[in-house]
Amino acid sequence: MKKWKLVDSKYSDISVVKKFHRHTMHLKSNIAIQGMKKIDYEQFRKAKNNEKIRLCNIEESDIEDIGLFKILERRRTSWFFEKDMGEKELSIILQKSFGVTLSTYYNEFLVHLRAYASAGAMYEVKPIFFVNGVDEKLDGKIFEYLPESNQLHFIKKASLSEVEDLTSTTKFRVQSFRNAKIVFFFVFDMEPLFAKYGALSYRLGLLEAGHMCTTCQLVATSLGYNTVPMGGFYDLDVKDFLTVDSNQYCVYMLAVG
Ligand SMILES: Cc1cc2nc3c(=O)[nH]c(=O)nc-3n(C[C@H](O)[C@H](O)[C@H](O)COP(=O)(O)O)c2cc1C
Repeated sequence: MKKWKLVDSKYSDISVVKKFHRHTMHLKSNIAIQGMKKIDYEQFRKAKNNEKIRLCNIEESDIEDIGLFKILERRRTSWFFEKDMGEKELSIILQKSFGVTLSTYYNEFLVHLRAYASAGAMYEVKPIFFVNGVDEKLDGKIFEYLPESNQLHFIKKASLSEVEDLTSTTKFRVQSFRNAKIVFFFVFDMEPLFAKYGALSYRLGLLEAGHMCTTCQLVATSLGYNTVPMGGFYDLDVKDFLTVDSNQYCVYMLAVG
């Protein structure tokens, strides 16, 4: 069998992964509840000064509920992105997947809990996305969805061909995002979670991104869209493309259309 050409032999050495896994374990000696640091979360909150767009509110009557079991049966990875999407459908996908579902107090702190589970309710994985063929004012742009205000935070303009270059499947035209309406980048902001959980935070970020991706897949499926979850993206290219800061890494992608 022809071997992959590897630039770094550590990439094909399972002991490296096992060692890394051991280093990220949740051990009694690492994080005891008594030893947990008190975190000033506000120090990590970065001001978002760019242009913001408020999304339309959705009415429950806008949504046809086909039932969870049917959705689970219908969810399939498929590159057949043929269904039209407008701002209303985009809003439903964002609000139902990532939106605030309950505001409540944890001791003296008011927290806005969302549709998906989050490590320590810190929500350090950001839903950032490229829009393509949805609405004139949104197309060809990258936004972060801000669940607490139901707003889109404009990050930058981008072209479809730049996004196609970011994953191995699309770069070599095996498949294409041409008809995908949303391409999500789940971007993990490592610093705040690390301050609280140490190396365990690495796992927590990946797990949280998985929750977000599944929730979004199910919501999109319920509206009749196809989805493709993707781990095969070029990390450094995505990081450059999104112009996120040094503690932020895309850990998962999802195309919807
Ligand atoms: C963590 C993860 C990473 C994946 N990465 C890719 C990918 O890079 N490209 C792709 O086309 N599909 C990707 N997939 C989709 C799988 O190929 C798909 O889930 C699998 O074939 C099972 O099909 P189903 O999702 O329709 O049940 C990924 C799935 C998971 C869970």
